[in-house]
Amino acid sequence: MRSSSRFLGALASVASLLPTAFAQSSTPVTYTDAGTGITFNTWPVPAGSQTAGGFTFGVALPSNALTVDANEFIGYLQCSSKDATSTGWCGVSLGGPMTNSLLVTAWPAGGDVYTSFRYATGYSMPDLYTGNATLTQISSTINSTNFSVIFRCQNCLSWNQGGQAGAASTSAGYMVLGWVQAFPSPGNPTCPNQITLNQHDNGMGIFGAQFDSAAANPSYTAWAAKATKTVTASCGGPTTTAIASVPVPTGLTYDYVIVGGGAGGIPLADKLSESGKSVLLIEKGPASSGRFGGTMKPDWLVGTNLTRFDVPGLCNQIWVDSAGIACTDTDQMAGCVLGGGTAVNAGLWWKPYTLDWDYLFPTGWKSADLAAATSRVFSRIPGTDTPSKDGKLYLQEGFNALAGGLKTAGWSQVTANNSPNQKNRTFAHTAYMYSNGERGGPLATYLVSAKGRSNFNLWLNTTVKRVIREGGHVTGIEVEAFRNGGYQGVLNLTSITGRVILSAGTFGSAKLLMRSGIGPADQLAIVKSSTDGPTMVNNASWINLPVGYNLDDHLNTDTVISHPDVNFYDFYQAWTKPNTTDTSKYLNGRTGILTQAAPNIGPMFWEEIKGADGIVRQLQWTSRVEGSFDTPNGKAMTMSQYLGRGATSRGRMTITPNLGTVVSDVPYLKDANDKAAVIQGIVNLQNALKTVKNLTWNYPNASVSAADYVNNMVVSYSNRRSNHWMGTAKIGTDDGRSGGSAVVDLNTKVYGTDNLFVVDASIFPGVPTTNPSSYIVIAAEQASQRILALAANAPNARYGQCGGLQWTGSFTCKAPYTCQVQNPYYSQCL
Ligand SMILES: Cc1cc2nc3c(=O)[nH]c(=O)nc-3n(C[C@H](O)[C@H](O)[C@H](O)COP(=O)(O)OP(=O)(O)OC[C@H]3O[C@@H](n4cnc5c(N)ncnc54)[C@H](O)[C@@H]3O)c2cc1C
Ligand code: HEM
Repeated sequence: MRSSSRFLGALASVASLLPTAFAQSSTPVTYTDAGTGITFNTWPVPAGSQTAGGFTFGVALPSNALTVDANEFIGYLQCSSKDATSTGWCGVSLGGPMTNSLLVTAWPAGGDVYTSFRYATGYSMPDLYTGNATLTQISSTINSTNFSVIFRCQNCLSWNQGGQAGAASTSAGYMVLGWVQAFPSPGNPTCPNQITLNQHDNGMGIFGAQFDSAAANPSYTAWAAKATKTVTASCGGPTTTAIASVPVPTGLTYDYVIVGGGAGGIPLADKLSESGKSVLLIEKGPASSGRFGGTMKPDWLVGTNLTRFDVPGLCNQIWVDSAGIACTDTDQMAGCVLGGGTAVNAGLWWKPYTLDWDYLFPTGWKSADLAAATSRVFSRIPGTDTPSKDGKLYLQEGFNALAGGLKTAGWSQVTANNSPNQKNRTFAHTAYMYSNGERGGPLATYLVSAKGRSNFNLWLNTTVKRVIREGGHVTGIEVEAFRNGGYQGVLNLTSITGRVILSAGTFGSAKLLMRSGIGPADQLAIVKSSTDGPTMVNNASWINLPVGYNLDDHLNTDTVISHPDVNFYDFYQAWTKPNTTDTSKYLNGRTGILTQAAPNIGPMFWEEIKGADGIVRQLQWTSRVEGSFDTPNGKAMTMSQYLGRGATSRGRMTITPNLGTVVSDVPYLKDANDKAAVIQGIVNLQNALKTVKNLTWNYPNASVSAADYVNNMVVSYSNRRSNHWMGTAKIGTDDGRSGGSAVVDLNTKVYGTDNLFVVDASIFPGVPTTNPSSYIVIAAEQASQRILALAANAPNARYGQCGGLQWTGSFTCKAPYTCQVQNPYYSQCL
């Protein structure tokens, strides 16, 4: 789940602009700067729970910008400093989200305000922007509590980072903007090209900024002429150091190579190595859990074998400090560490609702087919809804307030994993994969047993670039060091019978397929024109499959209530200034609040809603003790509604010229019945909680209908994602090579290949009821059995068929013959 109290930005409507519903109004405030006489439309974020010290961004636009799109503006930034040492930095995203937009950052140093254009491909330190935007200053101020800068920004409203383009329109009458600010000063502050930033820690938001008539001004040209000041950079020597790699040992081969050590890859590594075959698991990131050598931890864990990943109460640190952990090649939050999502997630762990398999999956993957795999997974990772080793649940006031209302309204309390099929008007305590007060899950079970086998090997810090194919047969993989100590070179598979399984996640596996010449023609053309182009597999061997389509995620709609009984616990302080009673309880006996996931999750509740189209849509609500939007932490609870099974909206993931991945089409609310279910769910919840005394609805508040609330909320991945991305390499019998929607067959084998498989979230046809990691582990258990049961690949005799558009057999030939393409429909061993 996504659970971040830091995301307190107001979400203003850009459609019908209902400013009353939101604290950070989309309606502009006119501000004329006394020093320069320039008049701006500004959207101030007042000092308060959203940000300490306040933040203001404003723009002045060219005189015709409200009718003709401008490509420049005069910007005004006023940002907060904490004190003389924490002078801070701030920034705006000119497209809204942090990723895929032009970012302007500013900070004070040595009497000047410095700026830098940046561009983020993932949720970590943004790269330097390489497009042609220029910034020239008009004036700046610095005092002990804030700094400001007025600047002309040219070529700033359309951007292009190495071929990945985007734009903001001024003639639309509004822009979607993002803002952030932070207290720690940047590293290398006088050298904008080489700054290092700590993640923003003083608020952020995304909002629709509406323009009024004062936004565009006839004096613009005269004002722009005042922009003459360029702050000179002072840089030391180069600071980047090359990654130290290890060459792939010559002569090494494996029966199975699994790419990606996450929810899918780890169980597979265990099950395949259990069969006695030689297995290599390659993970891009570093170790996470202390068990495997992870080291990232707050001071209070120094001297223990635990890291930030092991302690449930620290799970939200991913939203506070993601550097070195979040993947940098995808525009969504994903964990690029050993364990993948299962190392960084909140650990919610659900026994599947059988209807999910039955509704979403093809024959052969129905709930009855998966029953044995489910039992195996739950016998190894049973999960718990009382994670503290003393069996107690801590700080349950919020749970009790909401549960009381639900019960009165006729909803039933269940123990979720004892009755997984009761998902209509039920509520429960949260079930986690935790064990012994620690994260547990696949890392603590499947990977431990795999590591104990001599036929299993694990490579960390190593990225797989692509598989090497001869037609439909993979002979090896190319690897690159991602961090120090990673491997570099080509690794061969066991000849003829070796297999590769991609478990690099919904974005990672789809990208690997595309880089290996497997995917839609438009995507393969992008790879061909990238740095991969010269060494990419020949286009005669491209396999046309709908990789990247069918992208799905739970649509998240946050609602907020307050209740006097609720008690907020500051899990974020557990990193910086922990409560020592709580850390002692944790360290001495694995008891107390820190054994529970931040930010105190529960109750969980579910409802099924039948749409006008006859489809039953599943809702899961996750409540947590923290505020959202401008409702401060303290007495507030955020209740996030996920729209799951039954939703029909789907999106698309695509590859960029720089070989990153983007959600180019969000899978949210494309269908009126999907939206109707979201609205109905809120109405039903409002009714259910009517009897809870002293409960206040903050979002939507009493003056806003559920329909207006939903209709007017920005639909962007920044505010609506649940981080449950699935579906880019769908499983099915309708072979995508002949116009079907499936990328892998029922054995998870990629169509058009004889030894390449995908096993992770990407094969799911759609999102299930709940957070999906347990389903993915079950799918991996199931896939391991199907893969092991497949007959070994056998080479074809001379003159035998070894390829062609619909070919499903072996793509290899007995020596000395080779597989030769005769025409698109037929290849032959000659
Ligand atoms: C912040 C967050 C919170 C979440 N909370 C929950 C929750 O509480 N409960 C729940 O059930 N689900 C949760 N999820 C979702 C869940 O964790 C994911 O759905 C699940 O981990 C996906 O499994 P996967 O195997 O497809 O990919 P991942 O678990 O993402 O694993 C993919 C792995 O592949 C590696 N990789 C990628 N590319 C390469 C490459 N080229 N070479 C080598 N390695 C590569 C990555 O580093 C990663 O380790 C959460 C997700 C996030 C991001
Ligand atoms: C080390 C540098 C940075 C890191 C590690 C980082 C990380 C993150 C993370 C993890 C989030 C999601 C938080 C959540 O949803 O709770 C986020 C959001 C955001 N960031 Fe950053 N960030 C960095 C720098 C920047 C910069 C320089 C800008 C702009 C100038 C920026 C703009 C934003 C915006 C607007 C959001 C909210 C919208 C969204 O989620 O896409 N970030 N950042």
